[in-house]
Amino acid sequence: MKQLMAANWKMHKTVDEARQTAIDLASALEGKLPADREVLIFPAFGGIAAVAESLAGKPGMAVGGQNFYPAEKGAFTGEMSPGMLLDLGCEYALTGHSERRHVLGESNEFVGQKTAFALAAGLKVVLCVGETLEEREAGEVEQVLEKQLSVGLAGIPADLDPSRLAIAYEPVWAIGTGKVAQTSDIAEAHNFLRARLEAKMPGRGGLVRILYGGSVKPDNTKSIISLDNVNGVLVGGASLQAKSFADIVTA
Ligand code: PGA
Repeated sequence: MKQLMAANWKMHKTVDEARQTAIDLASALEGKLPADREVLIFPAFGGIAAVAESLAGKPGMAVGGQNFYPAEKGAFTGEMSPGMLLDLGCEYALTGHSERRHVLGESNEFVGQKTAFALAAGLKVVLCVGETLEEREAGEVEQVLEKQLSVGLAGIPADLDPSRLAIAYEPVWAIGTGKVAQTSDIAEAHNFLRARLEAKMPGRGGLVRILYGGSVKPDNTKSIISLDNVNGVLVGGASLQAKSFADIVTA
């Protein structure tokens, strides 16, 4: 299973900036992308087409959409459909990111609808899960992860190809704070998620990639991705500069 090294650019970069960062990243990785790694970039909507064009034909480099609405088309002002993401060159979509849950108010159920809809539309999905600091301090980590995982995956087909799904464990208190989770906390959460995936997708749950996200930087990537059941990373802040993200991808 290849490690999935994903960049979440959030609401950053104009079209030109997104294109330039993608070009710089591809050239920094030219001939250096390890055979067991894949790169995935989630630009803001405006930058998707430019990034997809810049990475077209580059092996091991894909583009995804940070958001979409779970319908084919219709009266959903301000939204985009999974089909529109595919049309722009996306292979992946992100669901359940903590900023969409906690800032934009998306419920577990809505995240589950989005995940099922995107998969059915032909996108691969990275579903994010993770507890808040309050929930961690209350000893509720496993409970929260179990709920987010089971409701998040409730609508997926029983015979889903596991390579089309990844889970990103992103403790909310570690996102954008510079506070990376301890490796023991990461290992515990990832082992728990692996066991739950195996229970939910018998025979295939071991093949779903589980990424870690939350203040991943070039200097902590290696220790994180060497843990068992860590199959990649989802990076915000440190993915905005091509050099820093290339260092993470090759760490
Ligand atoms: P961060 O963000 O790397 O800036 O902590 C991670 C994320 O939100 O996916």
